Amino acid sequence: MVEPPSTPSSSPPCCWRRSWWASLYPTNNHHPHRRWIPSATTFFSTNNTVLTALFLAFFFTVFYWQKEATAGGLAIFRRPFPSRQVPKLRHAAFNLTDFGGVGDGITLNTAAFERAVVAISKLRNKGGGQLNVPPGNWLTAPFNLTSHMTLFLAEGAVILGIDDEKYWTLMPPLPSYGYGREHPGPRYGSLIHGQHLKDVVITGHNGTIDGQGQTWWTKYRQKLLNHTRGPLVQIMWSRDIVISNITLRNSPFWTLHPYDCKNVTIKNLTILAPVFQAPNTDGIDPDSCEDMVIEDCYISVGDDGVAIKSGWDQYGITYGRPSRNILIRNLVVRSNVSAGISIGSEMSGGVSNITVENVHIWNSRRAVRIKTAPGRGGYVRDITYRNLTFENCRVGIVIKTDYNEHPDGGFDPNAFPILKDISYTSIHGEGVRVPVRIQGSSEIPVMNVTFRDMSVGVTNRKKHIFQCAYVQGSVMGTVYPAPCENLDLYDELGNLVRRSTSQNSSDIDYDF
Ligand SMILES: *[C@@H]1O[C@H](CO)[C@@H](O)[C@H](O)[C@H]1NC(C)=O
Ligand SMILES: *[C@@H]1O[C@H](CO)[C@@H](O)[C@H](O)[C@H]1NC(C)=O
Ligand SMILES: *[C@@H]1O[C@H](CO)[C@@H](O)[C@H](O)[C@H]1NC(C)=O
Ligand SMILES: *[C@@H]1O[C@H](CO)[C@@H](O)[C@H](O)[C@H]1NC(C)=O
Ligand SMILES: *[C@@H]1O[C@H](CO)[C@@H](O)[C@H](O)[C@H]1NC(C)=O
Ligand SMILES: *[C@@H]1O[C@H](CO)[C@@H](O)[C@H](O)[C@H]1NC(C)=O
Ligand SMILES: *[C@@H]1O[C@H](CO)[C@@H](O)[C@H](O)[C@H]1NC(C)=O
Ligand SMILES: *[C@@H]1O[C@H](CO)[C@@H](O)[C@H](O)[C@H]1NC(C)=O
Ligand SMILES: *[C@@H]1O[C@H](CO)[C@@H](O)[C@H](O)[C@H]1NC(C)=O
Ligand SMILES: *[C@@H]1O[C@H](CO)[C@@H](O)[C@H](O)[C@H]1NC(C)=O
Ligand SMILES: *[C@@H]1O[C@H](CO)[C@@H](O)[C@H](O)[C@H]1NC(C)=O
Ligand SMILES: *[C@@H]1O[C@H](CO)[C@@H](O)[C@H](O)[C@H]1NC(C)=O
Repeated sequence: MVEPPSTPSSSPPCCWRRSWWASLYPTNNHHPHRRWIPSATTFFSTNNTVLTALFLAFFFTVFYWQKEATAGGLAIFRRPFPSRQVPKLRHAAFNLTDFGGVGDGITLNTAAFERAVVAISKLRNKGGGQLNVPPGNWLTAPFNLTSHMTLFLAEGAVILGIDDEKYWTLMPPLPSYGYGREHPGPRYGSLIHGQHLKDVVITGHNGTIDGQGQTWWTKYRQKLLNHTRGPLVQIMWSRDIVISNITLRNSPFWTLHPYDCKNVTIKNLTILAPVFQAPNTDGIDPDSCEDMVIEDCYISVGDDGVAIKSGWDQYGITYGRPSRNILIRNLVVRSNVSAGISIGSEMSGGVSNITVENVHIWNSRRAVRIKTAPGRGGYVRDITYRNLTFENCRVGIVIKTDYNEHPDGGFDPNAFPILKDISYTSIHGEGVRVPVRIQGSSEIPVMNVTFRDMSVGVTNRKKHIFQCAYVQGSVMGTVYPAPCENLDLYDELGNLVRRSTSQNSSDIDYDF
């Protein structure tokens, strides 16, 4: 499954194609261009069939000729028309072209999007409005959404973020971070942005929001940027948000960033970025959010697939907004440089009541990771991992308590996070080098960790591949590989077999 670094993976691993993942993607959508004639003829009156047919023949000849001339290749395999009727999800629906949008990939559509948003904002007391983005390449600078709005991306619709930073709005740092994540002072806003909103839906027939991140990643690596890069989609201080059925790709920075939001549903997204040299292109970053579901997504990106956060050191402690009540399920995730599902490292507002289940993580550096450091404060507790599959991952389960990245010298070195009540149940997989590495410390011991029903195939039969330090907890029943001596052992029925006397011993080895 090794690919050239510049091509993001867009398909799940072989063995998953025909399983539950396939059921999310009905095959009848795969050849919609075969239906273009019926949908096109609906624009014409049917009692003048000959004229209509002649006109169509002429129209498509010219159309294909132009496609051929501009794009090259076999135009007959392209999709000239939306093949599926766009559903009317709100009382009022608009077309981006109504506001002067031009989907040629060159014309800047910022004003068209802004006009559409203004029109929809006037309908806030009438159920809001839907903005349909038809097939085409709709280049735009960042713009803001409004409440009671549905942004619908038709099949073949691509919103392209302009990659010249001069067009990107600067915004104050997030209060819980104090700084732009990469530079002090202001940060670039996101391509699609919203603040203090209610009832926003971004959905479609698998249309795409493409951040054209390549330019940003190169400039970042060459240290040419003076401000923190912007996310692709960032919704702040909002509630009742649904983001579904679309593709997000090549974000300049984190892809989808709900910040201090409540009641957010993220469903059936494909999130793509190159798995290598696309720095900080996390998939989804729930940040100080509560009551959130992330499900049925395919994520392959250049950093963490999902990273739950809640602010950075003293700024996050002061802001004091936790991430909690988050359910993550039915994902396929790939993260070549970081982890499939992360919590932290910024978690200073606290993280609790998180469930991660039915998740398949493949060809990744780490599968599931909790990361924190002295100075963070806060807590990570009541975390349930269930039915995870690791396929070809260097490290499976990771807890790291010395992730020493700080906003500035003003953090409190004695602000120790509390890590406790973390359970791992039905953890399986193959091709994993180190299945478990839980590295607590005397200041940040990891308390009450439970393992139940675990069998992870390892790449080599070395000892010390279930690594622990300062961990207190238990193993129920049989667990493979053999657990570290820090944990208490119970049988299947919950009877104590052996109580550990060495919770604080350390067997961490980064050479594996
Ligand atoms: C994965 O990341 C490593 C560095 O961590 C890199 O050497 C390797 O080329 C990457 N693999 C792919 C497929 O990009
Ligand atoms: C949606 O588009 C992405 C990117 O082109 C693709 O990988 C994915 O398979 C598509 N999903 C469906 C259901 O067609
Ligand atoms: C939007 O307008 C364009 C151009 O007028 C048209 O081709 C397209 O079918 C319209 N889409 C919807 C969803 O109305
Ligand atoms: C979006 O709204 C925020 C908050 O009002 C504002 O700071 C920002 O400039 C707006 N962005 C754009 C592109 O209009
Ligand atoms: C996922 O999105 C695709 C593309 O829009 C759609 O065809 C499919 O029906 C969706 N699946 C689910 C389970 O919603
Ligand atoms: C960054 O700042 C330097 C010095 O002020 C300036 O020359 C450069 O153009 C800036 N770069 C960007 C991308 O704004
Ligand atoms: C959550 O948001 C959805 C979508 O907007 C809405 O239908 C639902 O009523 C909201 N739930 C609560 C508890 O507010
Ligand atoms: C996703 O698309 C499917 C198929 O069109 C539709 O049934 C479903 O309601 C959509 N889901 C959401 C959450 O938009
Ligand atoms: C924990 O989160 C789930 C959603 O994943 C929610 O249904 C449940 O009520 C939450 N539990 C508590 C105690 O808040
Ligand atoms: C476990 O998760 C996989 C997807 O990763 C799913 O196919 C399977 O049905 C789940 N098993 C249970 C018992 O829920
Ligand atoms: C340990 O954590 C589990 C959840 O993983 C919880 O149900 C249990 O009450 C905790 N035990 C103690 C002693 O706090
Ligand atoms: C292990 O370390 C913790 C925290 O530093 C301490 O509270 C505990 O007493 C130690 N346990 C043992 C058995 O030494």
